[in-house]
Amino acid sequence: MSFLKRFRKEFEEPPLALTFDDISLMPSDISYSSSRRDEDISLKTQISKNITLNIPLMGSYMPTVSGEKMGITLPQLGGMAWMPRSPEQLRQVQGVKRHENKIIEEPYKISHTATVGDVQQQLKVLGVGALLVMEGSNLVGLVSTRDVDLREDYNLPVTEVMTSRDMLVTLDPRGLSEDEITRKAVELFIEHRLEKIPLVSDDYVSGLVSKKDVKKMQNKLAVRDKDGHLIVGASVGLSRKENNDLDLDALVEQTAKLLDVGADIIGLAIANAYLNDAIIAVEALRKTFPDMDLAAGSVTEYEGTKRLFDAGADTVLLGIGPGSICETRIVAGVGVPQFTAIRLAQKAAREEGKFLIADGGISEPHHLNKALFAGASGVILGNVLAGTDDSPGEKERAGNTWVKIHRGLASDTEKKNFDAMNNRSREVDPNNLYEYVYKHVEAEGVESGFTAYRGDTVNAVRRIIGGLRSCMTYMGVKDIPSLWKRCDEGKYVRVTPAGSRESNPHDLLSFHT
Ligand code: XMP
Repeated sequence: MSFLKRFRKEFEEPPLALTFDDISLMPSDISYSSSRRDEDISLKTQISKNITLNIPLMGSYMPTVSGEKMGITLPQLGGMAWMPRSPEQLRQVQGVKRHENKIIEEPYKISHTATVGDVQQQLKVLGVGALLVMEGSNLVGLVSTRDVDLREDYNLPVTEVMTSRDMLVTLDPRGLSEDEITRKAVELFIEHRLEKIPLVSDDYVSGLVSKKDVKKMQNKLAVRDKDGHLIVGASVGLSRKENNDLDLDALVEQTAKLLDVGADIIGLAIANAYLNDAIIAVEALRKTFPDMDLAAGSVTEYEGTKRLFDAGADTVLLGIGPGSICETRIVAGVGVPQFTAIRLAQKAAREEGKFLIADGGISEPHHLNKALFAGASGVILGNVLAGTDDSPGEKERAGNTWVKIHRGLASDTEKKNFDAMNNRSREVDPNNLYEYVYKHVEAEGVESGFTAYRGDTVNAVRRIIGGLRSCMTYMGVKDIPSLWKRCDEGKYVRVTPAGSRESNPHDLLSFHT
């Protein structure tokens, strides 16, 4: 095609990209759901080889969104959080994995020579309610919060306040399945009004069953691994050597550590997964850890998605610039509005039988519905969760309202934090004009944004999820893959500015939602 012809074609038909607010879903078939509460409607979604969530929501790998608290709350609600890259990452993953257990396999222990003061301190540091008291490898007793919390005789030996071995109710787990152990433990909890039961065969301690944990296991919404631990994701990035070369050893080492403490899925989450280094990194991770669940991104259309799948990713993260704190489209002018991005990428996911996660730009329930409709298996939330009680940091007063801070990963502060973690600095010399102007990398994320304080995380999640059932009922589907089919059938329309005005509450004197 001649340049002029191509130019005309492009001029007359510039590729159109739409985002969630540009479209509205169009119902047309008879819906056989009895109502939005229909038990048959399933919000379950597979997001990788081995992980199926009960709701399609994940907490972003941003330090202002996900920490240990978010890591625990989201899988309890049916989703999952991604622990961000930070010096605390391993501890956070470990904290989530230890939070709920069918059986605590390695219960915390203390020596029989410890004092009441030691016990008080250990219980506080470890955040647990009881410790096994050991003499060498022999169990000699159990000490719990209520044995020590009001005591001021800090030097008293633990052996004076603990429940000693001969008074302890224990359970011999030999020959019992995990479920049988739990069932027997429940009988003992009821019979003896206990909170904890050590599993002891002869004098060997193989675990502990806690009443609190057994109760937690009754939450059907929670997403757990095969041992009953809550699931958690962890993000990694492109580590670099001093000369800026890719440091695959550091990446593999960190991934190994994260898998070792129990991370269920690793996400190579970088701003630009079009870099050849991203492909090399995915290939290296896949080669070293053939069985792990691996996500990678971000990309924003078909080719980039396919390349990451071919390199070994099970799941691709989609989104360049849609996030609430993103400035990539302003600074770089790059990115594809998110509905079209997912639509383009879903072809690759279908071809490979793999998974897409839409990352960024979800602030209302209808955004989630349209991301899933377009072909995503789940979405990552930043802003919506950054304002809740479970995000790191405290709420702050701003005039008459409360806010929480939300900062971009590509902001100067976060970039400096990453660099400090990797023991390197990308500061340019302000006295060297060449460096200062020509080599400067502009931040592509908001430095210090505030988001509305939203209170309880449960309510924020509930609001986003509530609309999904409604959408599925209107669209006559009972699961997420069926929603994808509705999109293939073209069941959506474009919305004009007038249509958009009509879609929002209007012509009222005042209102609140
Ligand atoms: P929301 O809209 O949910 O988006 O707050 C969260 C997602 O935004 C991405 N992210 C960034 N993108 N510059 C960007 O261009 C940044 O500084 C930045 N920080 C986060 C990320 O994918 C996140 O999950």
